[in-house]
Amino acid sequence: MPIAEPLDPARARRIAVVRLHVNGQAYAVAAPTHWTLLELLRYQLGLVGSKQGCDKGDCGACTVLLDGLPTLSCITLALSAEGRHVETVEGLGVGGEPHPLQRQFAERGAAQCGFCTPGMLMSSAHYLDELGRAASPVVRQQDIAAALGGNLCRCTGYTKIFEAVQAAADETCDRARALADGPGGAA
Ligand code: FES
Ligand code: FES
Repeated sequence: MPIAEPLDPARARRIAVVRLHVNGQAYAVAAPTHWTLLELLRYQLGLVGSKQGCDKGDCGACTVLLDGLPTLSCITLALSAEGRHVETVEGLGVGGEPHPLQRQFAERGAAQCGFCTPGMLMSSAHYLDELGRAASPVVRQQDIAAALGGNLCRCTGYTKIFEAVQAAADETCDRARALADGPGGAA
């Protein structure tokens, strides 16, 4: 299967080099100027975790973090990522270990076909990042619903996904409290 549509000669002249960081690694990537960030990730860098679902900003399957914020990469021009930091689902785990969200999704059966899962994970990862930075982190169902409001799933009915995110969020709160209590723990 071709990795990208063949370029006609006129389009081939409109190539730009985009310099960006993806999952902590610096890249200079040549791409047609009309390409989206999703196309650059999938077809030039081979990072196919971010899914090309609706390709028009409706489903959230293509969600990545752009400078830390959830972003629909299918409606984001690759050129607009110049000099910025992108995180994709491939960069979620650390040192070969799954991210707590990935572990909880697996343990709780929160993925069925899995097509929505990368986007769900990235939106949830941002929610957990925010939670971890809060002075007094509290896990609320409405916050999880808001974080996942742009991510559609056609399989699971969402219950398992919410349970997985809640469990990972509870872990985040526990870690934040342990850090706040210091090495000796709570008095
Ligand atoms: S593929 Fe980007 S929102 Fe659906
Ligand atoms: S698990 Fe299939 S779309 Fe969500």
